[in-house]
Amino acid sequence: MTQIAPPTSPPTRQQTPEQVRAFFDAHRTVRQYQPYAMPAEHLDTILYAAQRAPTDATAQLYSFVRLTGETKAKVAELTTNAHIASAAESFVICLDTRRVRKLIEVAGYTPGESPAIDVHFGIGDAVLAGQNMLTAAEMLGYQGCWIGGVMNGLAEIVGLLKLPEMVLPFAALTIGRSAEETPHRPRLPRALVIHENTYQDGTPGELAAATAQMNPIAARPGKDGDWARLLNAYFGVGGSMEKREVALREVLKAQNLWAGE
Ligand SMILES: Cc1cc2nc3c(=O)[nH]c(=O)nc-3n(C[C@H](O)[C@H](O)[C@H](O)COP(=O)(O)O)c2cc1C
Repeated sequence: MTQIAPPTSPPTRQQTPEQVRAFFDAHRTVRQYQPYAMPAEHLDTILYAAQRAPTDATAQLYSFVRLTGETKAKVAELTTNAHIASAAESFVICLDTRRVRKLIEVAGYTPGESPAIDVHFGIGDAVLAGQNMLTAAEMLGYQGCWIGGVMNGLAEIVGLLKLPEMVLPFAALTIGRSAEETPHRPRLPRALVIHENTYQDGTPGELAAATAQMNPIAARPGKDGDWARLLNAYFGVGGSMEKREVALREVLKAQNLWAGE
């Protein structure tokens, strides 16, 4: 029987710069979906793509919880993101540094303790796998939405999904066929986010110009965008991130992922 030799180098999937730009330009975060059930083959493909993500130390430090039925509705409520319920598929994307310890225990070794490292590489792995899944879904004609709103009901979600120690939700991720006209949202000027060799703060003038460039992302029908105001509501004194900080610290402790005193 003839045997086909394995490829000596990775197979290419080269596209033109124009094709690559066009693909990423077509990305939109979408929050309204058609009532369309994802065919099994598509679901299988996006889950396959998730698991093909590169991973720290070979360990695959993530678990996804697929939401259906009442649990899906409840997570939509707890996150205050109703589109979790209406999307064809919704997942809670979790850091999971528990399974790696079970694996080494089963092999007769003693698991170590490294909560800060667990959070660092676990979140990284979870995001890489989740974004692989979203990109695969976009290749299949879907759009989706990452949902940091899990922080709005973090402890309740951990309880509802029965997440054990060393498993922590990072965000939810919805995927569906778009039912909305979504604007192409701006990004910061490249010079502020890509540094050459050493980090540079933007000057006040550059930051003000960047804010003007970003203002449309905060626009609402009939109302001009004010991006600084939006950022302040998240990251300013008394903003939602300060509230989330308190809840996250509690859950990090409960999940045995707290590295502080
Ligand atoms: C980690 C993360 C958390 C997010 N959380 C939410 C959320 O809770 N609710 C929501 O509607 N959109 C959420 N988004 C979507 C962002 O608002 C969106 O990506 C951003 O406005 C840029 O828009 P674009 O993806 O269409 O370019 C989140 C995105 C990320 C990456």
